[in-house]
Amino acid sequence: MAKAADLLLCVSSFSLLVIFHTSLVVLVAVTNADDQVAPKPAAIFIFGDSTVDVGMHQPMLLYLFLVVFFLYACIVLHYAVRLFRYKRSPQPFLYSLNHQSTFKRDILQGVNFASGGSGIFNQTGKKDYGEVVPLGDQVKQFATVRGNITELIGLAATEIMFSKSLFVISIGSNDLFELVKWHPNITSLAKDDDAGSVNTIDLYNLGARKFGIISVPPIGCCPAARVGPKSNDSSVCVEELNNLASTFLAKTEDLLQKLSSELKGLVYSLGNAYEMTMSILEDPLAFGFKDTQSACCGSGKLNGVFPCFFLLGPNLCPNRREVLFWDLYHPTEYASELAALTLYGGGTRYVTPINFSQLGWL
Ligand SMILES: *[C@@H]1O[C@H](CO)[C@@H](O)[C@H](O)[C@H]1NC(C)=O
Ligand SMILES: *[C@@H]1O[C@H](CO)[C@@H](O)[C@H](O)[C@H]1NC(C)=O
Ligand SMILES: *[C@@H]1O[C@H](CO)[C@@H](O)[C@H](O)[C@H]1NC(C)=O
Ligand SMILES: *[C@@H]1O[C@H](CO)[C@@H](O)[C@H](O)[C@H]1NC(C)=O
Ligand SMILES: *[C@@H]1O[C@H](CO)[C@@H](O)[C@H](O)[C@H]1NC(C)=O
Repeated sequence: MAKAADLLLCVSSFSLLVIFHTSLVVLVAVTNADDQVAPKPAAIFIFGDSTVDVGMHQPMLLYLFLVVFFLYACIVLHYAVRLFRYKRSPQPFLYSLNHQSTFKRDILQGVNFASGGSGIFNQTGKKDYGEVVPLGDQVKQFATVRGNITELIGLAATEIMFSKSLFVISIGSNDLFELVKWHPNITSLAKDDDAGSVNTIDLYNLGARKFGIISVPPIGCCPAARVGPKSNDSSVCVEELNNLASTFLAKTEDLLQKLSSELKGLVYSLGNAYEMTMSILEDPLAFGFKDTQSACCGSGKLNGVFPCFFLLGPNLCPNRREVLFWDLYHPTEYASELAALTLYGGGTRYVTPINFSQLGWL
C-alpha cells in the first residue's frame, strides 16, 4: 500500500511528466525554426511545489526522495528555460540570498521560489513536511526580491523588466491530495477558495504581467496511486482523484479568464497537464511509450510500491526510453523533455489560450 506521504510526492511530481506532449512534431518545429524562437523573457520567476522546486527549501527528512527528484524537476525546467535561450534555470531564492557575490547577476535573470510539498493553502504540506513555503509566502519573498532589484536598477526599469518577465506557477496537486487525505470521502470541490486568486493579484500588483500556469495532472494515474488504497484495479486510474484534478483545472481556467478581463495587461498561458497526460495514456505508442503504468525502477506491484533505491534491490526496466514513469512518482527524462516542449510550443488542446513561446512574444 502506498502511504499518504508517498502519494503526495507522487502527485506533486506527476505534474512534471504531465506537462508534455504534442511531441515530436513540436520537437522538429522548434529545432527547425530558429527565427521563430520567442524573444528571451527579461527574467523568469518560478513559484510552486516540487514540480518546479530545484531544492533549497527542503526539510532534511525528504532528502532521499528529493535527491532523486531534483534530477527530474530540473530537467523539465532546464529544457523549458533552454527553449527561451537561457543557459541555465533561475537560481533558488535561498541560494541567491546566500551568494552575495553573484546576487545581482542572479536575481536579474529571475528567481525560483518553489518549495516541495507546498500548496496554495497555508497549511498544505505542513503536517507531512514541516518547513514548506506556501504560495503566499513565496509571493512575499518575491516582494523582497522586487525591493532588491529596485535598489539595483530603479523603479521604472524594474517595472519594465517585470512586465517582460515570465511568471511560472505550478501548484495545486498537494492541496488536492491533502483534501482527499483529510476528507476521505470527498468527490467534488465544493468549497470555493480564493487563495489562488489573491496570490495572483498580489503578483500582478508587484508588477507581474505574463503568467505561465501549469495545472494539476490526473493524479489518479501514477504508479503509487494505482497500487494505493484508493485503487481496486491497477490497470485503471483512480477516477475519484482524477475528478478532483479536472475540477481544479476548470476552476483555474475560470479564474484566469476572470483576472485577465479585470486586470489590465495580464496575459496567461495555461498548460493543461490533465489533457497532456490523458493523450499519452490513450495512445502511448504514438509517443513512443510501451508502458505507461509501471515504474521503470522500483519494486512491488507495478514497481510502484517501493522507491528506486539501491538498498531496496529495485527492478530496472531494460529500456527507460519506452516507459512513462521512472519510479513510483517520477517521469522519465524523455517524458520530461516532451513536457517542456509542449508547454513551449504546443497547440490549444494542451496550452490555452496561447503557448509559452507566444507568451514570450507579447
Ligand atoms: C496565508 O499566509 C499569507 C502569507 O503569510 C497571509 O497573508 C494570509 O493571511 C494567510 N492566509 C490564511 C487564510 O491564513
Ligand atoms: C534585499 O532586500 C531585503 C529587504 O529589504 C534586505 O533585507 C536584504 O538585505 C536585501 N538583500 C540584498 C542582498 O541586498
Ligand atoms: C466515508 O465513507 C465510508 C464508507 O462509505 C464511511 O464508513 C465513513 O464513515 C465515511 N467517512 C466520513 C468521514 O464521512
Ligand atoms: C472494487 O471492486 C469490487 C468488485 O469488483 C466492487 O464491488 C467495488 O465497488 C470496487 N470498489 C471501488 C472503490 O471501486
Ligand atoms: C505554439 O508555439 C509555436 C512555436 O512558437 C507556434 O509556432 C505555434 O503557432 C503555437 N501553436 C499554437 C497552436 O498556437
